[in-house]
Amino acid sequence: MEKREVVLVDAIRTAFGKAGEKGFFWHTRADDMVVRVIRELLRRNPQVKPEMVEENVWGATTQEGDQGLTLGRTSAILAGLPESCAGFSVDRMCAGGMTAVTCAASEIALGACDIAIAGGVEHMGHHPMGATADPNPRFLAERLVSEDALVMGKTAENLHDMFPEITKEMADEFALLSQKKAAKAYEEGKIGRMIVPMTVYTKEGWVVADRDQQPRPDTTLEALRDLRTPFRIQGNVTAGNSSGLNDGACGCLLMSAEMAEKLGVTPKMKLVGFAYAGVKPEVMGLGPIPATHKVFEKTGLSINDMDFIELNEAFAVQALIFMKEFKLKMPDDPRLNPWGGAIAFGHPLASSGPRLMCHLMHEFAESPEAKYGLTTMCVGLGQGGSIIWENLQRKNK
Ligand SMILES: CC(C)(COP(=O)(O)OP(=O)(O)OC[C@H]1O[C@@H](n2cnc3c(N)ncnc32)[C@H](O)[C@@H]1OP(=O)(O)O)[C@@H](O)C(=O)NCCC(=O)NCCS
Repeated sequence: MEKREVVLVDAIRTAFGKAGEKGFFWHTRADDMVVRVIRELLRRNPQVKPEMVEENVWGATTQEGDQGLTLGRTSAILAGLPESCAGFSVDRMCAGGMTAVTCAASEIALGACDIAIAGGVEHMGHHPMGATADPNPRFLAERLVSEDALVMGKTAENLHDMFPEITKEMADEFALLSQKKAAKAYEEGKIGRMIVPMTVYTKEGWVVADRDQQPRPDTTLEALRDLRTPFRIQGNVTAGNSSGLNDGACGCLLMSAEMAEKLGVTPKMKLVGFAYAGVKPEVMGLGPIPATHKVFEKTGLSINDMDFIELNEAFAVQALIFMKEFKLKMPDDPRLNPWGGAIAFGHPLASSGPRLMCHLMHEFAESPEAKYGLTTMCVGLGQGGSIIWENLQRKNK
């Protein structure tokens, strides 16, 4: 079977709320957030009629309640896609949305379908991390993993142990940079255009959720220095140098390059290659390193070919170790997360992969000289995922 080119035509997300009662999505269902994203993707791309969408794939880490019942199918029905549109859901924890995109892209590449919507959602308020998980007792009894492996913040503390040269001061400085870059990008209007506003019911009545709740533009190094270290007494990982607990959804419109041409839509980026890889669960933050090496091997490209690197900032320490491995300028390489990252915007687990793609798509639009970009992220229980994209908004292609 011949492989076809897969392009990303558009990506959009809801605002990212704070998880819990104070978050603006507390009374909003996760599947309604997905529906909002699907409808907006179709509204923005009128050449794509609902009946043309053949597959709707959604990632979520918790696959129950308002994220259950095969979200890809339920959200297709709820969004008003015709019954002909198939749908399914996937789970690869934080990389759920990324996996939804690579699943849909694989279908398109193999000719199983022409047009798909793929994304990720996580309502961490309704589904606190691991709350209903029932890990097999063998994990601990047979020492298959240590207890740390099940608490992401502890895996980040383990990384500090493993790389003592990455200090807390460096992690805080990286976190500050993320906040400052995000604040600047917000001010310059780069972020608002990625967000589809959603009218939601809150304690204060109806409000429009059109701006992330997590960013703290006024962050200072001094304030970061003094924060508690909840995962270890006198540890290094704090609420300030970690991503937060958030609610959000992000989705992408994908199709074959041929279909984009046929419909006359402008594809924004082409999927060049992707790879997933596993690492020790206790140091899951290392995941992007082997996944990125693997995708470079598969594509024959290298870090020097990447004009942008959108790395999910689950924890600052994990981002810094990636930068060290690939010899990026620490702590602030202009290619890495130029508009800030998950430490500022938040990390509603499965939605973050598509969020990285959404950022890259807009960065490519503003940098017509840029050719390649990487989206990469770590995954609970020790995995990483990496995708290389080519900028189709380039001058003199
Ligand atoms: C670290 C974590 C436990 C903190 O949770 P939390 O205590 O609910 O976080 P909060 O937002 O309430 O912040 C805690 C405190 O830090 C302060 N804080 C957070 N970020 C700050 C910043 N940038 N500057 C100054 N203060 C900050 C808050 O104001 C709060 O102060 P308070 O206790 O005086 O109210 C939580 O965010 C977490 O688990 N993050 C990791 C998520 C994760 O594992 N994701 C998966 C990755 S693989």
